[in-house]
Amino acid sequence: MSKNYKEAFSKTRLAGSIAAGALDEVAKIVKPGIRTKEIDKLCYEFINDHKAFSAPLFYRGFPKSCCTSTNHVVCHGIPSEKELKEGDIVNVDVTAVKDGWHGDTSRTFEIGEVSIKAKKLVKVTYEAMMKAINIVKEDIHLGDIGATIQKHVEAEGFSVVQDFCGHGIGEVFHKEPNVLHYGQSGSGEKVKAGMIFTIEPMINLGKYETKTLNDGWTAVTKDKSLSAQFEHTIGVTSNGCEIFTLPKKN
Ligand code: MF3
Ligand code: CO
Ligand code: CO
Repeated sequence: MSKNYKEAFSKTRLAGSIAAGALDEVAKIVKPGIRTKEIDKLCYEFINDHKAFSAPLFYRGFPKSCCTSTNHVVCHGIPSEKELKEGDIVNVDVTAVKDGWHGDTSRTFEIGEVSIKAKKLVKVTYEAMMKAINIVKEDIHLGDIGATIQKHVEAEGFSVVQDFCGHGIGEVFHKEPNVLHYGQSGSGEKVKAGMIFTIEPMINLGKYETKTLNDGWTAVTKDKSLSAQFEHTIGVTSNGCEIFTLPKKN
């Protein structure tokens, strides 16, 4: 690994492990009856206990330490009094900042037993993210990432959200490049070793369109169909990439 990005990788590795660690703890408490504000409290405390802070908290006025996006909520759901119930799916998205560097990750959790369709949506969304991560190395095109995700998702009859994308990340939360989760292979800029960005596909059971609710944050599917998401922060190397936000046990 070149000296130039060794430090960026090690800082992101640390921030990423804190964000992933928060989700490992969330995994233990997400059960029917839990309120999404309790997930937020856990994330806030876990991140603070690791001498880091939450990037979402007060980001452009966002009021909480994580996003909790349930069922037809695509992303940016605001933790609240809302109780999760058996059969729900909920995405929890955490971004920790440690020593000025960001680690951003999300997972979709199943609350108790969920429908076969919901289970398949969650599985296909995770697979799409991992298939994309597995093709990343120096000199691929950004469009190869989107094409890989779109192909897998559409083959299963689901759709890729186009209104939100992955992003470069580092000492700032969101930076270039935009990492689209759909598109043509061979299109877009070439990926270079040392780049750090997220891959975070949002996949809908129905149509791809979204709209934002009056709170200015909560994005939902227009057709009210279920939506799932997973996110990792990765760093590109000459022969592959490193995932900075893996769960502890994997
Ligand atoms: N973590 C989200 C992402 O993946 C961004 C959340 S911004 C917030 O980029 F303000 F809604 F928290
Ligand atoms: Co992100
Ligand atoms: Co995120």
